[in-house]
Amino acid sequence: MTATDLPDLPRHVGIIMDGNGRWAQLRDQPRLSGHKAGAETVRDITRASRELGIEALTLYAFSSQNWARPVDEVAGLMELLRDFVIDERAEILDNGIRLEALGEIERLPALVREPLEELRTASAGNTKMVLTLALSYGGRESITRAARAAAREIVAGTLRVEDLDADKLGSYLPTAKLPALDLLIRTSGEQRISNFMLWEVAYAELMFVDVLWPEFRRAHLYECLKAYGTRERRFGLTSAQLADSSDV
Ligand code: FPP
Repeated sequence: MTATDLPDLPRHVGIIMDGNGRWAQLRDQPRLSGHKAGAETVRDITRASRELGIEALTLYAFSSQNWARPVDEVAGLMELLRDFVIDERAEILDNGIRLEALGEIERLPALVREPLEELRTASAGNTKMVLTLALSYGGRESITRAARAAAREIVAGTLRVEDLDADKLGSYLPTAKLPALDLLIRTSGEQRISNFMLWEVAYAELMFVDVLWPEFRRAHLYECLKAYGTRERRFGLTSAQLADSSDV
């Protein structure tokens, strides 16, 4: 499949990578082996997205709430994240990918934070695709941080309360630099948002795929992208209004 087969390619795709634990459980394996298999899927789906010409891919890799998981699972996930950043460094740089991160990066252990920040800096000038890892991330937490930043400006007298509208508040979010989220995919059959990109999801198309993340393949991504192309995105307008505006 190439981008020409998908004329209405989303600019920004977000993925809630769910089902690693169940994949392992089905095989009588420890949960961490599910995350390991999931990390392989991350590599392949990142490559496929870059090849298709998707501008931004945002992956929910570790939520603010995931810190409460068993200590061994958290430690294993941190090692997988470190390995990903280190092992994929050359491929990310050679393919013009910019690596970004969302969330409370300061909470991550140095073994992840340091190679992550190094690659963020090294890839900052790349323009082919931005790969964003949501790490220690929560949508509510992200909006709360934005509200605090706005409140600080109001207190400092550099922002008037009446100038704080949705666009202005959105500009304080860490996603403000990314294209608007067009498509959100969740694997594993669960139909929830689980605190991911709550603000950004406002007009995104949602797709819930009944496949566990370690088994999610390029073909599943292509199916989602094809289905995305058939959706009518109205952004609060009517179909007739959309048809009129496309005539202009
Ligand atoms: C949810 O599945 C998945 C996670 C909490 C972690 C996602 C991590 C990876 C895919 C691997 C590492 C990431 C990168 C970027 C290399 P779950 O454990 O909640 O699954 P379950 O609902 O079946 O238990």
